[in-house]
Amino acid sequence: MITVIGSGYVGLVAGACLAELGNDVVCIDTDAAKIDMLRRGEVPIFEPGLESLLRRGQEAGRLEFTTDYDLAVSRSTIFLIAVGTPPEEDGSADLRHVLSAAAAIGERLTRKAVIVNKSTVPVETAAKVEAVIAERLQARGVDVEFSVVSNPEFLKEGAAIEDFTRPDRIIIGSSDAWATEVMRNLYAPLNRRQDKIIVMDPRSAELTKYAANAMLATRISFMNELAHLSEAVGADIEAVRRGIGSDPRIGLRFLYPGCGYGGSCFPKDARALIRMGAEHKVPLRVMQAVEEANRRQKHALFEKLATFYGGERELDGKTIALWGLSFKPDTDDMREAPSRVLIEDLLSHGAQVRAYDPAAMKQTRQIFADASRLTLCPSAADALEGSDALAIVTEWREFRSPDFDEIASRLKDKAVFDGRNMYERSVTDTAGLAYFDIGRNP
Ligand code: UGA
Repeated sequence: MITVIGSGYVGLVAGACLAELGNDVVCIDTDAAKIDMLRRGEVPIFEPGLESLLRRGQEAGRLEFTTDYDLAVSRSTIFLIAVGTPPEEDGSADLRHVLSAAAAIGERLTRKAVIVNKSTVPVETAAKVEAVIAERLQARGVDVEFSVVSNPEFLKEGAAIEDFTRPDRIIIGSSDAWATEVMRNLYAPLNRRQDKIIVMDPRSAELTKYAANAMLATRISFMNELAHLSEAVGADIEAVRRGIGSDPRIGLRFLYPGCGYGGSCFPKDARALIRMGAEHKVPLRVMQAVEEANRRQKHALFEKLATFYGGERELDGKTIALWGLSFKPDTDDMREAPSRVLIEDLLSHGAQVRAYDPAAMKQTRQIFADASRLTLCPSAADALEGSDALAIVTEWREFRSPDFDEIASRLKDKAVFDGRNMYERSVTDTAGLAYFDIGRNP
C-alpha cells in the first residue's frame, strides 16, 4: 500500500498513475471538501486525462481518498509527500506542510517504511523530514526503521500523466540501499525498456529539481532577450532558434520566445534558488538576471501596443481583445500568468479589455473580481466585438487557425499583437492586419 500525502497536482497525478500500474494507493489531504469531491469522482484541477484515470482507480478499488491519517499511515510502507511548498515573502519555500506531513507519519508509524519527498523542496529538506520523524518516533518510545528519499517530480501541467508514465529520467536521492531498492521496484513498470533511474545522494536530488527548472527558465529568458535584439537589428528569432537548436548541445526544444514564462514552478523555483544561493553566500547572478528579464518580458506586449498607439497614454479609452489567459495551454492555471500583467497594464492605462480563455475564465473572474473595465467573453469571436486591437498571450490550439478576414473586419485598428508567434506574416498581411510578434521581425 502506498500513501500519497497531499491531493494537489503532483499527489493526484502520482496517486492515479501508481494505482493504474496496479498498486493500492490511498491519497490523503487535510482539505475535507477536496476529499469529498474526489470521492464523488470530481477532480479539483484541470488536467487532461486525470479524471478518467482517477475514476478507473476508484472503480478497481485500488485508489481511495481520506482525511484520516490513522488509516492512511497504518497500512502503508511507502509514503509520498506531495504537499505544496508555497513561497515565503523572501522567495524561500515554505516547508510547513512538508514537515507537518513528516510529523503525522512519525506520530503513527509502526513498520519499516520509505518516506519519499516529491514536493519541490530546498536542499537539506530530506534531512529535516528525517529529523522530524525520528523525533516523533522517539517521543512515542518506538523504534521503527525508516528512510527518507528525495524523488523530485518533473511533470508539466497539461502533460502530467504522460510525463509520469513515460519519464525522461527518474531521480532517486537516497543514501540507503534498501530504500533505493524499494524505489526501483516502485518504478520498475516505467523503467523496462531502458534504465531511466539515476540514483544520487538526497541533496543532489533536491538540487537537481531546481537546476532543471532554472536551466529551462534561463533558456526562455535568453531567447526573449535575443528576440528583442532581433527586432532591433532586423533579424528573425525563429531562424536563429533553428540555427542554434540544430546543435545537439543546444537542442530545438524549449527555445521559444514569448511574453514571459509563468506558472507555479519556474518563477517560484527561480526565486527559491536565488534565495538558497543568498543563504549560502553564493550569489546566483545568472538566475537573478533570468528572473529580472522575465519580469520585464511580461510587459512586452503592452509596450508594443503602446508603441503602436504612439504612447502609453493613447491607450486610454481603447478596447483590447485578449485571447488566452492561463500561463500556458491545456491548463486553467493563472499563477504568475503573463496575461495578468498585461491586463493590469491595460486597465491601469484606461483601456478596456475583452478577454477569452478556453479554460481559465472562472479563475480570471476571481482574480479580477473588482475590475469593471475587464469583460470576460464567452468566445474568441465575442472578444473581438467592438475591440480596437487583439493581443494573444496563450497559444491554445483553438487560436491556431482563426478566420483572419473576420478578425480584420471586426478590429477597428486591424492590429494583432501575438505574444506566442502563432501566425505567418504572409497570412496576416493578406487579411490586411498589422501583425506584431516576438522577434520575428522581417
Ligand atoms: C515546468 C517544467 O517544464 C516541468 O518539467 C516541471 O516538472 C514543472 O515546471 C514543475 O516544477 O512542477 P510547467 O510549469 O507545467 O512545467 O510548464 P512549462 O511547460 O515548463 O512552461 C512554463 C512556462 O514557460 C510557460 O509560461 C510557457 O509558456 C513558457 N515557455 C515554455 C516559453 O515561454 N518558451 C518555451 O520555449 C517553453
